[in-house]
Amino acid sequence: MPGMSQSKLPRIVVLASGNGSNFETIVKAQREGKLRAEILMLIVNKECFAIERAKKLGVPYKKLSKDWKGELFALLEELSPDLVVLAGFMKILPPDIVNKWKIVNIHPSLLPAFKGKEAIKQAYEYGVKVTGITIHYVDEGVDTGPIIFQHAINIDGMPLEKVEEEIHKIEHKYYPIIIDKILND
Ligand code: GRF
Repeated sequence: MPGMSQSKLPRIVVLASGNGSNFETIVKAQREGKLRAEILMLIVNKECFAIERAKKLGVPYKKLSKDWKGELFALLEELSPDLVVLAGFMKILPPDIVNKWKIVNIHPSLLPAFKGKEAIKQAYEYGVKVTGITIHYVDEGVDTGPIIFQHAINIDGMPLEKVEEEIHKIEHKYYPIIIDKILND
């Protein structure tokens, strides 16, 4: 049928607000056959580098307006994804969206420690010797939903820049794997 997807793969959308490096690794994993999913769209809430990545990768994208909540709800209804993937989306999703779709997020700390913004820096400045990443379902709170996966790294003696690099490395390694597991296992 015209306009209808022929794919039987689970369908995902990715939401981002920033650099978009996780978005890019998700797309690359999908193209390498490591993530069995159809990536319907990148959705952003503002001008950001993730858009440049979507253009380069040939992934459809949509930038939400300032009044984004209703617009996002309608777009998700239209796309009907099996999973909404947050990859650096810097807005709190409203309850009607959280309660209707299955949503997953990646956070750069070992939750429940260091919720919210600049979590890598928060952990570093606190002086922790071990930090890591958390992949979790999204509920109505901020970084509070049920934990799916965590990976810890030792950062003793590392400068902040190196900690950031190591955290992003493990994000890029594990997010596509865990998304694939959620969708296909
Ligand atoms: C990542 O560190 C992720 O854990 C957090 O936001 C950052 C997004 O980075 N939620 P990027 O835009 O994917 O490069």
